[in-house]
Amino acid sequence: MCEDDRCGSVSRQLSTFDDFRNAITAYRLPRVLIAAIELNLFTAIGTQAWAIPDLARDMKVSERGLAILCRILAMAGLLKKQGEIYRSSRLGATALNARHPAYRGDYLRLITSHWADWGRLPESVKSGLPLDHDELDEPDYRRQFTWAMHHRTLETAPKIAAQIGLRDARTLLDLGGGPGTYAMAFLTKNPSLRATVCDRPAALDVAKEIASTHKAAARLSYLPLDILTEAIPGIYDVIWYSNVLHIYSPQDNQALFRRAFAALNPGGRLLIQDAFLHDREGLFPEEASLFAISMLLFTERGNTYSAAETRAWLTDAGFERIKVLRMKKGTEDWEGGILEARSPETNKKTPVLRTGSVKHLRPRSLS
Ligand SMILES: C[S@@+](CC[C@H](N)C(=O)[O-])C[C@H]1O[C@@H](n2cnc3c(N)ncnc32)[C@H](O)[C@@H]1O
Repeated sequence: MCEDDRCGSVSRQLSTFDDFRNAITAYRLPRVLIAAIELNLFTAIGTQAWAIPDLARDMKVSERGLAILCRILAMAGLLKKQGEIYRSSRLGATALNARHPAYRGDYLRLITSHWADWGRLPESVKSGLPLDHDELDEPDYRRQFTWAMHHRTLETAPKIAAQIGLRDARTLLDLGGGPGTYAMAFLTKNPSLRATVCDRPAALDVAKEIASTHKAAARLSYLPLDILTEAIPGIYDVIWYSNVLHIYSPQDNQALFRRAFAALNPGGRLLIQDAFLHDREGLFPEEASLFAISMLLFTERGNTYSAAETRAWLTDAGFERIKVLRMKKGTEDWEGGILEARSPETNKKTPVLRTGSVKHLRPRSLS
């Protein structure tokens, strides 16, 4: 049963052995795509037309293997095949081609590396712990991860910003904003808005680089902070909290909501974007369910949460008028993935801050 009409599509309910086999063998096309990226195939093809023997020589791979790989990529629409000649599709020649300015290499590296990590899933199920312990503040790791987040959201952020009315807002905090892609999209859409992107210092260095290519950069400022343990300095009309909730435990999130509440003007808004589950049993949408596996593999205590439990944490922190924002289908990061919560207009109570009891987590990736 759905709590509301945002259950998502029940894309597969496996009841027969054939259903089960088909679900398992669905790994095949993803593995072909990952192999193509690992072999830098789209970069090798570039914008040229190739016969397989020439391309195989150029890539130093077998003709037989490449012919089979390219035929499947053509079947999937990533290559165009005319007789014996192959060219890249538009997508292959741009976002997947390391020689093109629109190449999304850092995000491609992140998602293709997850193939090996997901192969180790039984280890994490047994231990209940992440696979490894990355140094989250290590600048190179943070830099690559932050670029990956930019490459992930650069098309989604303007679509979301176009649908969230911020006419009454003067100040926005992009909390855990990483590359600041959302902050920039909100600034571009709202010419009188000022925004602050708050994250770890190495993430903010990337945000500065990205902002330097935008006209709105003069209205963006930067706040280095450990959002898990430190109070949020300043006061804002809107706090945008995107894709951070799932990294942390329910207790961490509740404490963070109290800190966010304290940093909002009366009537201010906290907008949370995340992979919310929407049915009563916490199973759907499928994307939000599956994303919990990434949190198991890469974080100490992360998970995906239901909109209902998040709403309860928000109410506990003092927020009111909590609702799921409806976005146009196909424009969202996650289905039903934005919760809006308001700080009361008047008589705002000071929430009890319990930062002292909050432990610092060590999420490995996707965080
Ligand atoms: C998955 S990324 C999301 C980035 C961006 N908000 C988006 O939606 O694309 C999570 C971000 O939260 C930041 N973050 C997580 N824990 C943090 C902490 N304790 N202090 C500061 N930033 C943190 C990470 O550095 C990262 O940039």
